[in-house]
Amino acid sequence: MVFIILLIFLRIEKSGDWFSFEFFIPNDCIAIFTKMPNQIKDIATRDETSVSYIFEQNVTIELKDNSGLVRCNVYRPKNSEKVPVLVTYGPYGKDISYEAFHPQSFSEVNPEQRSEHSAWETPDPKFWTSNGYAVVRADERGTGQSVGKLDTMSRGTSEAFFDVVEWAAEQPWSSGKVGLLGISYFAGSQWRVAARQPKGLSCIVPWEGMSDYYRDRCRHGGILSNKFIKFWWDRQVVSNQYGLSGRAARNWGPDTIEGDLSADELVQNRQDQTVDNLENQFRDDPYYASKEYSMSDIKVPLLSVANWGGILLHLRGNVEGYTHAGSDLKYLRFITGRHDLPFYYKEEVELQRSFLDAFLKGDDRAGWANGTAPKVDMVLRKGNVGHNNAEGERTFPRRQETEWPIARTQYTKYFLTSQKELVTSAPTESRSTKISYEALGNLDDPQLVQFTTPPFETETEITGHLVAHLNVSMSANAGAPSPQDIDLFLTMRYISPSGEEVFYTGTAGDPVPLCKGWLRVSMRQVDHESPRDRSWLPHRNYYSTDVRPVIPGEVYAVDVEIWPTNVIVEKGGKIVLEVSSGDTQGSGIFQHNSPVDRSTERFQGKNHIHFGIAENYVTLPVIPPVE
Ligand SMILES: *[C@@H]1O[C@H](CO)[C@@H](O)[C@H](O)[C@H]1NC(C)=O
Ligand SMILES: *[C@@H]1O[C@H](CO)[C@@H](O)[C@H](O)[C@H]1NC(C)=O
Ligand SMILES: *[C@@H]1O[C@H](CO)[C@@H](O)[C@H](O)[C@H]1NC(C)=O
Repeated sequence: MVFIILLIFLRIEKSGDWFSFEFFIPNDCIAIFTKMPNQIKDIATRDETSVSYIFEQNVTIELKDNSGLVRCNVYRPKNSEKVPVLVTYGPYGKDISYEAFHPQSFSEVNPEQRSEHSAWETPDPKFWTSNGYAVVRADERGTGQSVGKLDTMSRGTSEAFFDVVEWAAEQPWSSGKVGLLGISYFAGSQWRVAARQPKGLSCIVPWEGMSDYYRDRCRHGGILSNKFIKFWWDRQVVSNQYGLSGRAARNWGPDTIEGDLSADELVQNRQDQTVDNLENQFRDDPYYASKEYSMSDIKVPLLSVANWGGILLHLRGNVEGYTHAGSDLKYLRFITGRHDLPFYYKEEVELQRSFLDAFLKGDDRAGWANGTAPKVDMVLRKGNVGHNNAEGERTFPRRQETEWPIARTQYTKYFLTSQKELVTSAPTESRSTKISYEALGNLDDPQLVQFTTPPFETETEITGHLVAHLNVSMSANAGAPSPQDIDLFLTMRYISPSGEEVFYTGTAGDPVPLCKGWLRVSMRQVDHESPRDRSWLPHRNYYSTDVRPVIPGEVYAVDVEIWPTNVIVEKGGKIVLEVSSGDTQGSGIFQHNSPVDRSTERFQGKNHIHFGIAENYVTLPVIPPVE
């Protein structure tokens, strides 16, 4: 590092109100962290003229391990004392405007949270600078203007984020206190960096951000969640790779400061998530193992915001992250609505500000810092307000709780019957039977069986974690080879008293059911020794050593984790448990349909649920009314 600094030639220019300085690092130095054909230069420019805050673009942050250079934009109040800093670090382009990134979404954002420097899923600089915060928006290493290897969600990129947080705490205009606030990628990354405990980090607000790379995002119950990863990678990550040509021409931020990299160099400089997640199956593969961290190392105050509708990506991580974080002061808030918009709703922004003010400015108006604020604040999904209907969802009541899961939960078994019912008393099946369905279903050709409760006699709240216990087997189709494994896809649905299914708002505003769960039967092994194994959430390690054979004709009893959910079942409403061999309604862009991960050879044939010899049930977390 020292010798890089010695080789920097600093040039300062001043022209009018623009103040710019450039430094050049000779080429051979750069080879230390990446193959770069072009000379690294840095142009940081400060503009105090056109906006209500100071805007510095392309500011350089050196990484302690020389693995690249991170560039960021700094937005900070004019004529101000030292201020606390809100930092985001991610791959979507510090200079790609929200409007260019997603015009339709931008047009629907609360106008008070829209400005010329708005960017997708990040805090709006205009609003936060006017409230006494600096905003640092960094391009993740290997993307946008940041030099180095693009390796999203890796240990290396999290270490770079650590440097960015410490840098933000050390700046002359910084109060030394840093908070993290952002949606999705800008939330998922918070858990990891907070577990590294960078100096200055004072609180985090992971807003719809998964915390467990393997279980939440990549492999649901061991099954590859390929479709979203590919969509995400192609549309918004590799499209912004450092050195990729033609970005400006596509209105996808400016071209790279140092110019383009060749196609070969681009490949060399990235770790492709679509490839890596297909090639690696187990949590003890170095690819996944290297991304592990311990949630108990997170010590800063946190506000985890989970969306009941985030049923295929973020919801689980917000709940588990809250549950396992080592922070003394931690809060869990449930919301509904789309993935992009609620973060900017007026009342949600005020909540963010209240929390951040408490830990970054010492102004605690709501009892966050003395721990008197409610630990868990839930929105209760009652009735049918339609999906993608923000106004309708505002009518959902809220309730506060002191813990998660709710201590008074009555875990109640609902038994599956061979008559496709879901009943609370254990069925006495007179003979052993099975219900069969074709393996390898998919969204276009779903193969499923549904078990339905009788109409509920009283209004009943279901809030918390669900587990399904099933006795399953598989067999070959006539004349076809034997299968070797079973993929279980479970879905919980709610049928209103008038008989229609109620759909909730999914991540993209699409209609989704209550929740889903998955299991690859060869990965059925549960680690009952783990402190994270709970009766309401079986803990699996998904190690290569956990793989168990699945033999045609053998019956296996499995406990399938279903992601947490909430619904107020109305009098006359019904609950459905759907068991299928592939994605069904509600999977949208999050499908599990890789022909390699779910090969015909391995998964073909018929799947069966067995009755008579054993019990099959789903345990629902029923919440009794408070007296
Ligand atoms: C930051 O870098 C980009 C890409 O070269 C450039 O378009 C932009 O003008 C730079 N910002 C400033 C203020 O120089
Ligand atoms: C906790 O902080 C809140 C908000 O500042 C305050 O109203 C409340 O009195 C405090 N409670 C205790 C027990 O200190
Ligand atoms: C089915 O599940 C039950 C528990 O409900 C278990 O005891 C039994 O061994 C399983 N049946 C078979 C045939 O594996």
